[in-house]
Amino acid sequence: MLSKLSLLLEKRPHKQWQIEDFSGIDQLHLGGIPATLALLDWLPNGAKSGLDIGCGLGGTSRLLSNERGCNMVGLDLNHQYIRAAMLLNQSIQPEPQCQFVTGNSLHLPFPEHSFNFVISQHSTMNIKQKEVLLKGLYRVLKPRGHLLIHEIMLQPHAGENDILYPTPWAHEKGESHLCHWQLFNDLALAIGFKVDHFKDDTDAALTWIRQTRQQKAPPPFTPTLALGANAAVMSANVLGNIEAGYLQVISASLCKL
Ligand SMILES: C[S@@+](CC[C@H](N)C(=O)[O-])C[C@H]1O[C@@H](n2cnc3c(N)ncnc32)[C@H](O)[C@@H]1O
Repeated sequence: MLSKLSLLLEKRPHKQWQIEDFSGIDQLHLGGIPATLALLDWLPNGAKSGLDIGCGLGGTSRLLSNERGCNMVGLDLNHQYIRAAMLLNQSIQPEPQCQFVTGNSLHLPFPEHSFNFVISQHSTMNIKQKEVLLKGLYRVLKPRGHLLIHEIMLQPHAGENDILYPTPWAHEKGESHLCHWQLFNDLALAIGFKVDHFKDDTDAALTWIRQTRQQKAPPPFTPTLALGANAAVMSANVLGNIEAGYLQVISASLCKL
């Protein structure tokens, strides 16, 4: 993936790349750029230092830097993604204020009270230990800091056995750790978060995925580059799982008390 990406960028050395040019590969969540911008409505103006967990190729971090002048740290388990995120960042001028680090959201390598906010778009579905995750996020947030999440969860009556794989986050069931919003909410409250905002984005996500599958991302930066040859099957399965009433897409803003 990284060498393909380098070649694509080198082919057009004089191109003035814009953040939006890469949305087919660096907005690996339902709703694309508009979904990220909608989350920012819940971010206080003074919140400038942010952590983007499971940042993938860094599109969310770049948007936050551009739209809000934030200093972002993007963290992802996948070292190839982190190198690609750096490459994409360097290809944009002026370079967005983002650092990218390889790391695990369950073992955040930052002191307590480091960030005004943490953002997570579709990055927690592989994480079984949600309580450990939330405690770590609480630790690195400054007092009154915000946790913005945009995640895929199970519908209240659904279970992991209902879900058809592969999906963009898991090749098979064993890699997936979807949870219900109710559980996530209860854990967050017990740790000391307050839920300021909650939105069920399932219908909007369904509309977006149907439209996107018809339009197809403009080449060369298509999801296949980031997700591999199975990208179309993964997308069809996400659509099918939502249509069957098994997956819920939620956005929420939680405040550290
Ligand atoms: C579906 S992608 C979303 C990427 C990005 N947030 C976006 O919206 O474009 C999920 C990302 O979470 C990362 N991830 C999964 N588990 C992680 C963990 N424990 N720590 C850090 N990153 C993780 C994956 O490597 C992947 O890049």
